[in-house]
Amino acid sequence: MGSLEGTVAENGGAAEAAAAAAATTTAPSCNGKQLEENGNAVDMAQTDGPPAFPAADCGDGPGATGVTTRKGRFGGLVALPLEVGTRMLCRWRDGKFHPVKVIERRKLPPTVSFCGGGHEYEYYVHYTEFNRRLDEWVKLDQLDLDTVEADVDEKVEDKATSLKMTRHQKRKIDETHVEGHEELDAASLREHEEFTKVKNIATIELGRYEIETWYFSPFPPEYNDCVKLFFCEFCLNFMKRKEQLQRHMRKCDLKHPPGDEIYRCGTLSMFEVDGKKNKVYGQNLCYLAKLFLDHKTLYYDVDLFLFYVLCECDDRGCHMVGYFSKEKHSEESYNLACILTLPPYQRKGYGKFLIAFSYELSKKEGKVGTPERPLSDLGLLSYRGYWTRVLLDILKKHKSNISIKELSDMTAIKADDILSTLQSLDLIQYRKGQHAICADPKVLDRHLKAAGRGGLDVDVSKLIWTPFKEQG
Ligand code: ACO
Ligand code: ZN
Repeated sequence: MGSLEGTVAENGGAAEAAAAAAATTTAPSCNGKQLEENGNAVDMAQTDGPPAFPAADCGDGPGATGVTTRKGRFGGLVALPLEVGTRMLCRWRDGKFHPVKVIERRKLPPTVSFCGGGHEYEYYVHYTEFNRRLDEWVKLDQLDLDTVEADVDEKVEDKATSLKMTRHQKRKIDETHVEGHEELDAASLREHEEFTKVKNIATIELGRYEIETWYFSPFPPEYNDCVKLFFCEFCLNFMKRKEQLQRHMRKCDLKHPPGDEIYRCGTLSMFEVDGKKNKVYGQNLCYLAKLFLDHKTLYYDVDLFLFYVLCECDDRGCHMVGYFSKEKHSEESYNLACILTLPPYQRKGYGKFLIAFSYELSKKEGKVGTPERPLSDLGLLSYRGYWTRVLLDILKKHKSNISIKELSDMTAIKADDILSTLQSLDLIQYRKGQHAICADPKVLDRHLKAAGRGGLDVDVSKLIWTPFKEQG
């Protein structure tokens, strides 16, 4: 997967990233529900669950079909249904009101729109303070009409003339993805934003989990009418109905990702899957991953990638926890293209394990590496945490008597990333035209404490791997 656009500035963006991520963590977890044996979902959220909303306030008029009005603040009238682009406050899962922009609206089925007054619509809103993964459909009751801003965002309104992308537009984007690995130009990027602004698949079932998705993913057109998809957790084929999945599971003979198991330590295993040898698996993995990655392009040309799929194994099989992809040949010295920990497994150290693993592969290749840009907010937090911990551990031992080049040779972390990490920690001084690391042990300890947990360790002695070589 290549990238379209950054969500966080590389330098100096960490604060916003942390704020956005913190916002995510304080939200009731959308990490997934564990399915009971009978297939019923058990909520795994760590918080109290969504606040109970008061019964619908049906507003002024019937207006089941035409435009209705509601009194706004200071007695002004707000036309309903609300226009796309309208900004106001909306009650979020935390029970508090946050600023939103209406991205899309749709009519509810007649059975739901029982009381008119604008209640026959629901609205897809973007919380302007938060990451796009928190965008959601809300009912009128959640919106505070008193806070509607006078000016509708014209640009959004223009763009909203058609949600459906024409086949031509779609082909154009697909071609861009397949043919060039280059970034989209501004126009295509706008098209991308337009087409992907509303999540298509709301939830997926994968193994024992039901997982709420975060972003749009370009599944083939025959899945356009689905809000939920059922994945085989082993071959990653996806289906529209549970019965289809159950039938599939009776026949599917995979119990782990295809490819070679290159690492096993306790119950953790890593499989290397060659996109050329396992094309369908690679494509399925990309479709799945895109549901949790925002500004990434889906490559149908998975031939060029290796996928490293991390699994927790038990007597039922090897269950995917996360993965990273890696170009077979990268001119930009990327050692990782996309990284994902599936939401039910996040914040347990797997992300840092995957990052550490990517650098262990680079060390075996005798190369330095860096992740493909841009990094998402969570990607940047995870990398910054990893880089900080690895570099400061070494600095503590060497009492800062070490150069950036030496640090890079020891860790396979690209010099630019070392410099930006140490700069962000204020550990670099520029003396006589050169960068010098200055690290007081007390300062190092303070930074290390702030860098969070170390994550799961990669036991290099358990890695059996040789770098990729094209056969023939
Ligand atoms: N809120 C605050 N901090 C967070 C959060 C969060 N929701 N998630 C991760 N972090 C930070 C923390 O510092 C955390 O360390 P800590 O738990 O010790 O405090 C650190 O990142 C990494 O935590 P891990 O448990 O090791 O990582 P995780 O398994 O959660 O995976 C990942 C991190 C892969 C980025 C995950 O969040 C994910 O899959 N996100 C969606 C996809 C994505 O954004 N991928 C990166 C795109 S960039 C690219 O692909 C090159
Ligand atoms: Zn299968």
